[in-house]
Amino acid sequence: MTKITAAITSVQGYVPEKILSNADLEKMVDTNDEWITSRTGIKERRMAAPGEALSDFGVKIIEGICEKRGISPLDIDMVVVGSITGDYRFPSSANVMCDKAGCKNAWGFDLSAACSGFLYALDVGRVYVENGTHKKVIVIGADVMSSIINYKDRATCIIFGDGGGGVLLEPNEEGLGVQDSILKSDGSGRQFLLQEVGGSKEPLTAENVGENRQYVYQEGQTVFKNAVRNMADVAAEIMEKNNLTSEDVAWLVPHQANLRIIDATARRMGVGTEKVMVNIQKYGNTTAGTIPLCLWEWEDKLKKGDNLVLASFGGGFTWGAIYLKWAY
Ligand code: UT7
Repeated sequence: MTKITAAITSVQGYVPEKILSNADLEKMVDTNDEWITSRTGIKERRMAAPGEALSDFGVKIIEGICEKRGISPLDIDMVVVGSITGDYRFPSSANVMCDKAGCKNAWGFDLSAACSGFLYALDVGRVYVENGTHKKVIVIGADVMSSIINYKDRATCIIFGDGGGGVLLEPNEEGLGVQDSILKSDGSGRQFLLQEVGGSKEPLTAENVGENRQYVYQEGQTVFKNAVRNMADVAAEIMEKNNLTSEDVAWLVPHQANLRIIDATARRMGVGTEKVMVNIQKYGNTTAGTIPLCLWEWEDKLKKGDNLVLASFGGGFTWGAIYLKWAY
């Protein structure tokens, strides 16, 4: 029997229109364009419109995917969403997206893996395609980071932005699509990058909100050191495991948190900068959104059979790599 693999057959991204530039941030916190550019590679990021929620991003992504593939939302079996900024704590934003986009025959859920959300969701979605039970699975990675960022905290507000994207997974019998995944987590890193209050451990109170503890907290240097080591290691590990040389890799699709982390990963893989997708200068770190946003922007340059290595590191800590063959 031919082995069924899960192949990406359509991709769609979405970013809100409003731009928040480094010059804008200079007016809000004690920072400057030179510092932000040299330390992170970011020039500007996008901001959701007032009232624009994660599900609104998701509806645009689902509609775009269906339109490009020439299918109806009714054809979708499942929607998996990697995000930490859902519309509500419950119900899941996947449910809201399916309702708003008309995916009446789909079920789905959200999963929380911060910047690795898209990779985790992609690996979950592919299992349902590979086991033959689902024919059309949409995997979304997106975040409305502006809803949890303190724009008075220069340690975080310069990095994060809003946006995301998604892919359609379908069965493939030519051996294209997801080939392998290595996903990891280490909860002992949780205190270095987290949204401290608002969960069951410490629900929101007037007091902790007054202290601005509902926003993202990041100890940048510690996260940076862990990100450089782990993202580079896992990308190299997946190459070794699959006997891939740097020549075999057509594209590295890295999480866009910091240009220095991306460069370190590419160096470790021996992959030249011309093979690395980078759009951090335009969108900053959109958390679960960065990798599908890259796939969307590079879609025209991708060729059937291209070997792609997707790699991420983020809060949790969570990290991992997925090796896939582009299918169209
Ligand atoms: O996507 C999820 C995972 N997240 C990441 O991967 C992010 C990882 N971390 C980073 O990317 C970097 O740590 C940051 C970009 C967040 C910070 O860069 P850094 O090179 O680690 O800076 P730092 O925190 O060591 O600060 C260096 C200096 C300090 O001043 P002194 O003590 O040397 O005088 C900071 O106070 O820069 C200062 N600083 C700033 N200056 C201007 C910190 N933030 C800013 C700022 N503008 N926004």
